[in-house]
Amino acid sequence: MAKKLNIGIIGYGFMGRTHSNAYCKAPHFFDLPYEPVLKLACGLEEDKAKAFAERWGYQSYTTDWHKVIEDDKIDVVDICVPNNLHAEIALAAAKAGKAICCEKPLALNTTQAQKMVEAVEKAGVPNLVSFNYRRVPAVTLAKQLIDEGRLGKIFHYRANFLQDWTISSQVPQGGMATWRLDVKAAGSGVTGDLLAHCIDTAMWHNGPITSVCAMTETFIKERRHAETGKLEPVGIDDACTFFCHFDNGSLGNFESTRYARGHKALYTFEINGEHASIAWDLHDLHRLSYFDHRDDSIVRGWRSVHVTDGDMPYMDKWWVPGLQIGYEHTFVHQVADFLENMAAGKPTSPTFREALATQSVCDAVLTSANNKKWETVKY
Ligand SMILES: NC(=O)c1ccc[n+]([C@@H]2O[C@H](COP(=O)([O-])OP(=O)(O)OC[C@H]3O[C@@H](n4cnc5c(N)ncnc54)[C@H](O)[C@@H]3O)[C@@H](O)[C@H]2O)c1
Repeated sequence: MAKKLNIGIIGYGFMGRTHSNAYCKAPHFFDLPYEPVLKLACGLEEDKAKAFAERWGYQSYTTDWHKVIEDDKIDVVDICVPNNLHAEIALAAAKAGKAICCEKPLALNTTQAQKMVEAVEKAGVPNLVSFNYRRVPAVTLAKQLIDEGRLGKIFHYRANFLQDWTISSQVPQGGMATWRLDVKAAGSGVTGDLLAHCIDTAMWHNGPITSVCAMTETFIKERRHAETGKLEPVGIDDACTFFCHFDNGSLGNFESTRYARGHKALYTFEINGEHASIAWDLHDLHRLSYFDHRDDSIVRGWRSVHVTDGDMPYMDKWWVPGLQIGYEHTFVHQVADFLENMAAGKPTSPTFREALATQSVCDAVLTSANNKKWETVKY
């Protein structure tokens, strides 16, 4: 029988749901060394915390996150709250010797993130940051193809993350979900929220980013704050575009905005190498586009690989070839990898240290946009 592992989750919103769903599903599909037990759920409002605990099967609930840390029975603290709370909770959880799964971005800035890395490394606790897109099977397959050298020398990496949900000036800042528009809660706008995903995947695929040149824009300068009811200045970046150099000599081109009418969550990347290219699109996440110049010219062209066969990443755990999986499964894979590595005493990527590197790039991007100059990334 697998040993029980008690989960304390902080945050019952969007990510609280995806993570809870993953803890429930993972043992049904993966042979895990631990059985996750949904022990304690925490969130700001008591009636919602209670309803969340009942719906997902948590044994109890609280509105005070300190109770999750102080509870000796909790083994894993799962942080699914706005970005400004990540550091304080993670520092306390590390001190209490808990394993930590923290949502992205790791922190508000590199200074905070550095302290979090020091805390988990000093305490020697398992730690993971939830850059879940790495665990889309097609994105993991892209990594495999790059590592096998199929693309040859890489010249270009370009990624976009486009949304359109903040175009109306009536969308408030602050409050549930819209805390993303309040710089005090979010730290930054699309840079930390969306580009952080693209940067994490890009550096996993293509190595470190060394320097960046960015521009940002805040299209709507004032929004009503959901908590104060007052019209307040907007401090986040609504859109960000940056160019970069990778350590391997390739060039990067990244764009994110919440003002691209018609796009809900269009995360795409394309990688161009000497021999082959790869492209991926979140709206069609179970497919990987691949072009190989070494094919005979009469059949050469972009292939759309349906990533569902059992020899493709994670897919032997799901249905039969031809039947695809989706967004929620990235979190199931994350839980499975975290628990397997924890039992084996191995780190799970991306660790806090790896997420610190992403934070460093985000900070360099924002500095570059402010200074209107190229910025070297300080790791
Ligand atoms: N990996 C991804 O793709 C992804 C997607 C969305 C959000 N996120 C990240 O997940 C985190 C949470 O985002 P979300 O979309 O779930 O937000 P949300 O607004 O849906 O939920 C936030 C939760 O935090 C709780 N909370 C706020 N302050 C609290 C406090 N002081 N004590 C206890 N609980 C508190 C709220 O009650 C709520 O349950 C953020 O860091 C965000 O960047 C990651």
